Order: sequence, then structure tokens, then C-alpha cells
Amino acid sequence: MTEKLHVDLSGAPQTMLATFYAKALDADLEKPILGDRWAKDIVDRIDYDWSQTTITARNSPAVTTRSAHFDNWAAQFLAVHPEARVLHLGCGLDSRYYRLDPGPGVEWYDVDYPDVAGLRRQLFPPREHCHIVAASVTDPAWLADIPADRPTLMIGEGLTMYLTEADGIALLRRIVDHAPSGELQFDAFSRLGIKTQWTNAVVRRSGATLYWGIDGPQDILEAVPGLRLLQWVSPFDSSTFADVSRPFRVMAKVMSLSSKLRYMAQYHRYAF
Ligand SMILES: C[S@@+](CC[C@H](N)C(=O)[O-])C[C@H]1O[C@@H](n2cnc3c(N)ncnc32)[C@H](O)[C@@H]1O
Repeated sequence: MTEKLHVDLSGAPQTMLATFYAKALDADLEKPILGDRWAKDIVDRIDYDWSQTTITARNSPAVTTRSAHFDNWAAQFLAVHPEARVLHLGCGLDSRYYRLDPGPGVEWYDVDYPDVAGLRRQLFPPREHCHIVAASVTDPAWLADIPADRPTLMIGEGLTMYLTEADGIALLRRIVDHAPSGELQFDAFSRLGIKTQWTNAVVRRSGATLYWGIDGPQDILEAVPGLRLLQWVSPFDSSTFADVSRPFRVMAKVMSLSSKLRYMAQYHRYAF
């Protein structure tokens, strides 16, 4: 029997264990939301006390509806741009490349801190057009190495809140300046979401700090020249939320009565 991979992470990198585990649990549900067989297979190869993540099958839709949403947006971009570059930033152990299985015209870059990138290398089978980049997304050097010759999709799922506003804006500007055209797709927490981060067990337990609160597209459009808003939605209004269990739907309905709570988390999509 092959030995399990021991994982010891803290801070922002640790939080990806929670999102990853949610996908593994979801895959075992009778009616999965994401249906990620890769997460399901890989979870058994990691030596970790998963109860520390506080994720259960019951609360896993909080993660999997988001991942399914960004799969949909990414698939829409790739359907129109079969020759593209994808910057999958703060990828954690997400298997989006394998789920979407894009054609050979797509060059895909999974970017995360070296500890996480190292785990990816050991857990996922190599693919010719899928590259693992071990770097902080805020370091300008890795982007300079990526050819600026194709429409480029940036995906940042569960990432922006870990960046400072200055670093986040600089990153978005760098991508828009670098690529000839493309899209930015990412989720965000509002300033209220950042203020109440102590209620987020995954973040609290990891010791990570959330910094960047975004209250709406105006915050982005004013700070990053050259963007056009395509979509801005509350997670509760995403089509991927339609199949969650009744308690989740009731919670969404109640929270949606207040726009502050409805948009505490948001999905952003811009073209450039
Ligand atoms: C909540 S997890 C999300 C992981 C994955 N996107 C998902 O949805 O399953 C946050 C991820 O962002 C990564 N991250 C946070 N700040 C980063 C930075 N400055 N550079 C690279 N990765 C970063 C963490 O290491 C972690 O893998």
C-alpha cells in the first residue's frame, strides 16, 4: 500500500483543505452538486484529520455551489475561446482543469503558494497543457513568464479576500495590462463580510486573516481601467444554488431580504 501524504499547512493555504474536502464529500452524495470524482479519489491519499476543517456533507454546498458556478462561467469562456490561456489563481487542490477537460488549444496555469503547488504535483497526474506555478499571485514575476498571445481567463475562487486591497487591485491591473483580451472571474466578500470574518470557522481555525472587502462592481471598475462588467451576482441567485437542501434555501431567502446580507459574498465577471 502506498503511504499517505502528510499535510501540515497553516494560514491561507490551510483553508484550501476545507474547500477540497467539501468537494470530496459532495461527490459521495446521492445528488452531488459538483460531482468531483478527482477530489473523491485524492482525499484518501492524504493523511489529515479532516474533522478539523469543520466541513460536513450538510454544509458542503456552501463550497460546491461556488465551484460549480465558476465551472459554468469558465466553460462559457472556453466555448467561445478554444485557444486561450487560463490563470487559475489560488487554485488549492481544486481539480477544475480535470473537470472541464479543455481541448489542446488551452494552456492552463494552476497558481498557488509553493507548499500547495508541491502537493498538487504529487496528487494530480501531469497533463501536457496544464502547468503548476509555485508562487504568490501577488508576485509580478510569474505573470511576466506567461506568453501574452491569447485571450486570457483569470479565475480567482476563494482568493481575493486573502489579498490586501492594494495587492488585489495591482494583480487585476497587471493581468489586464498583460493579456490582449479576456475575462476576470472571481468571488469576493463585502466589507461587512471582512468585518465579520470571526464567524467563518474555516478562516478562524486556519489562523488566516481576510483583508480585502469589495462592496460591488463599482469598486473594481473605478480601480481597474479597461474593464466592462459582464455579471455580478449573489451566490444565492446563482443557478447552482437551485438544488441545495431546504434549510439552505430558507437561509438564502431570509438573508436575501437584506441587500447587505445578500451580497456579503459575490461573484464578479468582467471582460477586457
Ligand atoms: C479558500 S482556498 C480556495 C482554494 C480553491 N480555489 C478552491 O476553491 O477550492 C484559498 C487558496 O488561495 C491561496 N492563496 C491565498 N493567497 C494567495 C497568494 N497570495 N498567492 C497564491 N495563493 C494564495 C491559498 O493558498 C489557498 O489555496
